[in-house]
Amino acid sequence: MPKTTTFIHLTDLHISNPAVDDDHLHSDTSATLAAILADIATLDPQPEFIVATGDLTNRGDVDSYGHLKSILKASGIDLPIVWLIGNHDTRDGFYKGMLGRDTNTDAPYFHDTVLAGIHVIALDTSVPGQVGGNIEPEQFDWLEAVLKTHPDLPKLITLHHGPALDEDQPDMEWESLTIADSLKLRDTLKGHNILGILSGHVHYDRLSNWYGMPLIVGMGQHAALDPRAFPNALRMVDGTSYSIGIVRPSGLTMALVPQPQTRVEKHTVPMETLKEYVAKAQRQLHAGPQAAE
Ligand SMILES: [Fe+2]
Repeated sequence: MPKTTTFIHLTDLHISNPAVDDDHLHSDTSATLAAILADIATLDPQPEFIVATGDLTNRGDVDSYGHLKSILKASGIDLPIVWLIGNHDTRDGFYKGMLGRDTNTDAPYFHDTVLAGIHVIALDTSVPGQVGGNIEPEQFDWLEAVLKTHPDLPKLITLHHGPALDEDQPDMEWESLTIADSLKLRDTLKGHNILGILSGHVHYDRLSNWYGMPLIVGMGQHAALDPRAFPNALRMVDGTSYSIGIVRPSGLTMALVPQPQTRVEKHTVPMETLKEYVAKAQRQLHAGPQAAE
């Protein structure tokens, strides 16, 4: 009987400190996470680990990470969790609130581990103050080195911003890694035993074959992007899900587990408006803090 391994993919948890009135929170993310964790507790067999691919919190403040930890504790779930950070997180808040670390709190958080015979590699694609993602050169150097370790094990690549699918649309880089870093990632992963790539950020269940590798984006646990309105508008509706990953000798399967959802509209932004907003934020970022409004 071949060995089968299961794990859980969470993403875009957007947990928010309940003591703060958060007008950018579109659903009760704490209740959603608690319900999903209760669901996971009933799975038989129990998964071996959880991967949470960023946007762990909605605002990146220390107390929201504390709240996330309290939800986990209350759930009784005691599985290894691979944490990643996204554009809604802050490195400082994550290190302090999640890991209890007070030094070097602006460093990118990338790491790898072996869980149940799978080499899990977690990248930090967040760029402070920016919506889209990138991978800085030192992290690429690290990735190249770790890919050579555990050569007998399949590699699960995890990151918040998935690679860009449209390499001719630089004005859409806010929804992914930059095009340049996407291509560099493709070249870095080439020739390695890549089980799959797990990511989040765009808030809809999306499955791609990216240069021969499975690329899985999770809808996440906050609100859902309506793919019918994309790319003309960013229409967010009520909806969440999580995924069960199943690793067999034949490869990776992701079983999507949609949660009860009304698909009622939360808000809609025309794509041109969004692009203008992202371009303005980008200009401010590159001009330095003095130019920020
Ligand atoms: Fe998100």
